[in-house]
Amino acid sequence: MDYRAVLEEVAAYARPYVGQGQVADYIPALERVSPDRFGIAVADIHGAVYGVGDWEVPFSVQSISKAFSLALVMAQSHGSQGGNGTYGANGVQGGPGGDDIWQRVGREPSGTPFNSLVQLEAENGIPRNPFINAGALVVTDRLQTLTGDASTSMLHFLREESGNPDLAFDQAVADSEAEHGDRNAALAHFMASFGNLENPVPSVIQHYFWQCSIEMSCRDLAVAGGFLARHGLRADGSRLLEAREAKRINAVMLTCGTYDAAGEFAYRVGLPAKSGVGGGIIAVIPGRCTLCVWSPALDARGNSVAGAAALDHFTTLTGWSVF
Ligand code: DON
Repeated sequence: MDYRAVLEEVAAYARPYVGQGQVADYIPALERVSPDRFGIAVADIHGAVYGVGDWEVPFSVQSISKAFSLALVMAQSHGSQGGNGTYGANGVQGGPGGDDIWQRVGREPSGTPFNSLVQLEAENGIPRNPFINAGALVVTDRLQTLTGDASTSMLHFLREESGNPDLAFDQAVADSEAEHGDRNAALAHFMASFGNLENPVPSVIQHYFWQCSIEMSCRDLAVAGGFLARHGLRADGSRLLEAREAKRINAVMLTCGTYDAAGEFAYRVGLPAKSGVGGGIIAVIPGRCTLCVWSPALDARGNSVAGAAALDHFTTLTGWSVF
């Protein structure tokens, strides 16, 4: 496969979509990004990386971090508290090792916006999945318990997996998120009232804002997500996750990774994916490669318009969806 030629063709296909939609404007630091940006990168399972356009320009990872925080919690939980044979959130069966997080968060699509409060009361403070904000707050809370410093652990994890030691938090984005963080605080307090947080609310939301503020390029994210295409193995062959854990993260990405548009996204692209309101989307082709596309203008559900078009064209062109 001539990846570079495929990416050039995908970029040409996506060009008319670049700038369609709206750049996230809920905080000034994100609003300033040009809607005309577009980049795409692919990292194959053997370590080769290709990209076109703005593929080496750092952007705010936002909710893409949720796939990595879930992976890190699973990796950190190995052998600690097994949920073996127990029943977790929503009556679903847990499993051994890192699966204990599923006692506290479900794995069903929510069908509601990522920052919605409505399901939490009826469902006793157990979020539908780890990729809506409430679920991600639970995962960050667990990471805080496991590591003592959730956001710094995330930064070190992403530096290590991407091979880029210069990754950093964007302090302006993190501060701005905190200033406009009432809804996330409400979600966290509500879950705390059901006993579904282990750490104080201010600390959990602060670590969550920092993890969302990390800046990475398409290249960094495609490389960092390589373990999801390698069935849990890192680039150097060491094991981060069990194969079944990587399978589960990919499955939840497919069904819940693109907000309440996950059905539409699966229909168009046919790959596990996780998007963020910074305009990035990572997508995984298990056994082959990890992709990351970035273009900041979003559709009404919060997914990059040009990014989704590019991934749609990539899987159509190559025939490499999971279906
Ligand atoms: O927490 C928030 O609402 C922002 N940091 C947006 C995160 C995001 O990309 C959308 N979340 N699923």
